[in-house]
Amino acid sequence: MGYRVGIVGATGAVGQELLKVLEERNFPVDELIPYASERSRGRKVSFNETEIEITVLDRNTIKGCDVYLFSAGAGTSKEYAQLAAEDGIVIDNSSAFRMEPDVPLVVPEVNPFDVEWHSGIIANPNCSTIIMVVALKPLHDAFLLKRVIVSTYQSVSGTGLKAIEELERQTRDYIEGREPECKVYPYPIAFNLIPHIDIFYDYGYTKEEMKMVFETRKIMHLSDLQVTATCVRVPAFRCHSESVTIETERPVTVEEARNVLEKAPGLKVMDDFSKNLYPTPRELEGTDEVYVGRIRDALVFENGLSIWIVADQLRKGAALNAVQIAELLIEENLL
Ligand SMILES: NC(=O)c1ccc[n+]([C@@H]2O[C@H](COP(=O)([O-])OP(=O)(O)OC[C@H]3O[C@@H](n4cnc5c(N)ncnc54)[C@H](OP(=O)(O)O)[C@@H]3O)[C@@H](O)[C@H]2O)c1
Repeated sequence: MGYRVGIVGATGAVGQELLKVLEERNFPVDELIPYASERSRGRKVSFNETEIEITVLDRNTIKGCDVYLFSAGAGTSKEYAQLAAEDGIVIDNSSAFRMEPDVPLVVPEVNPFDVEWHSGIIANPNCSTIIMVVALKPLHDAFLLKRVIVSTYQSVSGTGLKAIEELERQTRDYIEGREPECKVYPYPIAFNLIPHIDIFYDYGYTKEEMKMVFETRKIMHLSDLQVTATCVRVPAFRCHSESVTIETERPVTVEEARNVLEKAPGLKVMDDFSKNLYPTPRELEGTDEVYVGRIRDALVFENGLSIWIVADQLRKGAALNAVQIAELLIEENLL
């Protein structure tokens, strides 16, 4: 049996990856409806070797699907997701509903059971949060998390297709001696780092940083977990990287942690400093797992650990996680 699958934002960075992931995983698709905005009228996307014309999203066209994968920004989700959920189940990549109490926020390796209580909409967490919790979950199960300190190094594809173009254009400008033009970020991103992702709150943290705090607590069902984040945009095209230091209730050794991480679902340990082996974003583009390396004692805590994480945020941080949620719904007879 197959399903009618709607992809809202099918021309975007995540939408294009959703098409690939559905294809690669042989997701049972009977019919695929790719939605985008008026700007994409007449465009086609390719899926399973067929060209499918974009359906322009509006209140009349958003109907008839069993499952809708939304990746067209929070504004579009707020406007159309409830309507779509009258027909099928919505899996939403945007931040629109993540912290709503009646919307589960799901990472299948961490809290698969939460899909069961959805009432039409299931939220896909923020990309940096997904990547981090896949590694935190087995460490929590083994050593009990007390505190998490994370700094992110986030690639430009996390902002979407326009930011990928901006890094390409500014790199050429820089090399050819032209002043780089900034259309997406407040400063040039080529040959630079920008410690500013999403808007600032008046207490000095950015919305991206606070997403990592609140979403981590919700996904892991640890409402008191202490988390602090610093989120930085870096001139990598794909894959987000994170430096994570944890304090734990129980004693933890590097060997014990490595053992736990090696057995955990969705994770790959890449860690041998004697061979310069550690995860790097460029080398891991297009991969599905969350890679962990630089596993070492945190030094500043009696019980603590520091790790380095890299994952392709367009896949595990967005498209793959959304498709895994849809697969989970099928397994649980919820779709
Ligand atoms: N990029 C990531 O790594 C990532 C990770 C996790 C979550 N997300 C979330 O996923 C969403 C999409 O991100 P992206 O990076 O794929 O952005 P993107 O490359 O800019 O793509 C945006 C997509 O949304 C469509 N869209 C925009 N406004 C629309 C409207 N009013 N009606 C219908 N379609 C509309 C665009 O269609 P047109 O081509 O017609 O403009 C395009 O297909 C965002 O909510 C983002 O926060 C992104």
